[in-house]
Amino acid sequence: MSGGATLSRRAFLGAAALGAGAALAPSRVSVARTPAAFVPTKTLTLASGEMDFRLLGADRPATRIYAYDGIPFQELRLPRGTRLEATFENGLDEGSTVHFHGIRMPNEYDGVPTITQPLIQPGGRFVYRIPLDDPGTFFFHPHCDETGQAGRGLVGVLVVEDPRDPTFDAEHVLSLKDWRLAQDGSFLDLSEPDGASKAGTFGATRSVNGVAALELSAPAGGDVRLRILNVDSTRIMDIGVEGAEAMLIAVDGHALPPVSLDSLPDGVWRMGPAQRIDLALRMPADGSTVTIGDYRAADIYSFATLTAQGRVKRGKPAYALPKAAIPRADLKKATRHSFTLQQATDSAVKELSLPPDDPLAKALLDSLCVGSTTYWGINQDSWPTGERRSVPPPLATMRADASYRVEIKNETRFPHPVHLHGHAFEVLSSSLDRLPRHLADTVLVQPGEAVEIAFVAAPGDWVFHCHILEHMETGMMGYFRVV
Ligand code: C2O
Ligand code: CU
Repeated sequence: MSGGATLSRRAFLGAAALGAGAALAPSRVSVARTPAAFVPTKTLTLASGEMDFRLLGADRPATRIYAYDGIPFQELRLPRGTRLEATFENGLDEGSTVHFHGIRMPNEYDGVPTITQPLIQPGGRFVYRIPLDDPGTFFFHPHCDETGQAGRGLVGVLVVEDPRDPTFDAEHVLSLKDWRLAQDGSFLDLSEPDGASKAGTFGATRSVNGVAALELSAPAGGDVRLRILNVDSTRIMDIGVEGAEAMLIAVDGHALPPVSLDSLPDGVWRMGPAQRIDLALRMPADGSTVTIGDYRAADIYSFATLTAQGRVKRGKPAYALPKAAIPRADLKKATRHSFTLQQATDSAVKELSLPPDDPLAKALLDSLCVGSTTYWGINQDSWPTGERRSVPPPLATMRADASYRVEIKNETRFPHPVHLHGHAFEVLSSSLDRLPRHLADTVLVQPGEAVEIAFVAAPGDWVFHCHILEHMETGMMGYFRVV
């Protein structure tokens, strides 16, 4: 069995219920490969489970959140070139998988139930063998009932370090996530139809690394690196910095020639769920502060303050990271595709006719890890929800190692952060002309905007979806089959 998964009877029945559709997904046989000589391997376990965590404050009731290894926003930090061998142990009472977001890897470890692996049932395990060849700021999360599981906190940070990076005097990782909580600390519904069909169902309790705000320090005159991750299910944020000139040095982990945040529209980087940035800045004089915030709403969320303390002497700032070693598409020879993000038409909005608590209905929905209603689609088609039970044909079939230019057009009234698994793509252009050319794994496409990306296709079935988790689970997902 692929990757050493334990397939319970329930998962087996679920797979059988998929019927002919399941046959569309090629069976993935894991080939035992001898690791190349001298590739350092890091072996660890990632155990999902529940825990109590005080999100509302020390003297307020705790919340029953989900986390890996009992550490909210746990950070794995490994040197580039490591092979990560992570045994996932599912301690939740629902099926789950792990997706290492943004990492280029063999398809069989991509963590998408029904597409690349069976759903891992409660008590089950699965070994992920992940090559960490690209340095950068990444994260990992489940790929089933993500609205529920990631919404309850199940995310971890993966930093792949590059010894060739410039030296910084301080570095901070800032993981941003909102929570939907009632006064007593319990979770409110993580998805509501009005949110799922529009901008998403927002949480009102905002957090950075699980607390309301961080007070940090860094040496006066020193250089600071900030790795900022939007791990929220829904919220789009405008990240800005006051008190120092911040340089954008990486997007989704991948280096770009440093760009001053001030030179970008509104002096911020607009970041949808799943997107990450690395910023570099020089601290001001002793006692002065630098504030980092989300400036998108009138009510600014200042999530971190850096106070300058002590003093270091630094020369001229030199923040450029080593150039990313990502295969670049041949833009002249590239095959073109165009995909349109749409609101599902009324006739396409299908509700599940079996009551959702019917065991059969539940098994079907669980095995596809989707919701019961379709609100969204890509090119007039929607990922199955409700009564459509089989894995649909791919959105496109591509050739391995060939170059592709893909246009993503947004015909809806809402922005969508669109993610392609298993690749780093180049963002070539935006019809609104608001983006520098850069590498990414997720790109935010504004209403009415068309963004063009390019990549060299890697073999496998790779899902392509909106990372507003409710949008993904209500239809805005498909996949590319690369053969
Ligand atoms: Cu964070 Cu399917 O992705
Ligand atoms: Cu979306």
